Amino acid sequence: MKLDGVPSRTIWLEPDGWSVGIIDQTLLPHKLVRPALKTVEDAARAIKTMQVRGAPLIGVAAAYGVALAMRADASDASLDHAIAFLGEQRPTAVNLRWALEDLRATLGPLAPSVRAASAYARAAALADDDIETCRKIGVNGLALIQEIARRKGGRPVNVLTHCNAGWLACVDWGTATSPIYHAHDAGIPVHVWVDETRPRNQGAALTAFELLQHGVAHSLIADNAGGHFMQHGDVDLVIVGTDRVTANGDVANKIGTYLKALAAHDTGVPFYVALPYSTIDWRTGKGCDIPIEERSADEVLSVQGRLPDGSVGSVLISAEGTHARNPAFDVTPARLVTGFITERGICAASGEGLLSLYPEKTSAAA
Ligand code: MRU
Repeated sequence: MKLDGVPSRTIWLEPDGWSVGIIDQTLLPHKLVRPALKTVEDAARAIKTMQVRGAPLIGVAAAYGVALAMRADASDASLDHAIAFLGEQRPTAVNLRWALEDLRATLGPLAPSVRAASAYARAAALADDDIETCRKIGVNGLALIQEIARRKGGRPVNVLTHCNAGWLACVDWGTATSPIYHAHDAGIPVHVWVDETRPRNQGAALTAFELLQHGVAHSLIADNAGGHFMQHGDVDLVIVGTDRVTANGDVANKIGTYLKALAAHDTGVPFYVALPYSTIDWRTGKGCDIPIEERSADEVLSVQGRLPDGSVGSVLISAEGTHARNPAFDVTPARLVTGFITERGICAASGEGLLSLYPEKTSAAA
């Protein structure tokens, strides 16, 4: 997608051929800063502090992190350490484990002398694959939006989304936003209700920003407002992303997703989850077994934004000493999900639905 009119990716190799460029998403939308990752520690910190975030992007960033580690030391011990170290930075998005297992399978059998080059090539391949996968998710999801647009006779299709499952969360296109971008680019009038998504405000800071950059009509709403708009017929469709879908179709996503699914269920609004194959955890049977990341209470006790002097900082919103809890994700049961939008098509949100699109996983899931 475009950033200030220039086609951009969220992660790239710098002209030096080895350091890894990223967009520091903790400073968006107020500052556009593109730091370079030079060590595996830099990559781990970028994942942990959410300079890069979003399940698919975390996976690709970890793959490049392994490449940086191999450049410094390509021994077996270094490979083991890099994979363990990167893997422990964020627990919920399964794409992290998926990418690291891919890198282990690719590099493990190789001689140390060729591991660095192979790791860079594999990380680049995963980035390219993510773009193509997200593009296909968009093409498949477009059909849903087209059908609603036809029923509405040209009136805008209202899509609600939560968190940021846009191109900033991936390498390009996004998952939940890809059908929206495809619809917009096809001339279908589409309007997006953007949940602010406390505590980190990925909706306000990232989704609204990228929709604005691409020229897609949208309205930022407080997290508590979605149910109201659904009750009043102002939401045609909910599309969210996910950090992990278990073999039975349960969905982990940013905290608050479950409440939107409940409201959609009560009001009869279709609730879709857009995901790439790399987000399906075939080894975990149901959502209650997904590890839920608990982040710092400071994220709840304060809000980050642009301060009057133009700097980006945070302000306290509660009394000093207030206790807070900060689970970063919740699990939406499959029964509340209308369907999955994947790169292979749309399916029911269930184990059977997933296997209908990924039949090669039948024995793994059994
Ligand atoms: O904590 P974050 O910002 O990494 O959480 C991101 C989300 O919950 C996204 O919706 C999810 O990763 C899907 S990204 C395509």
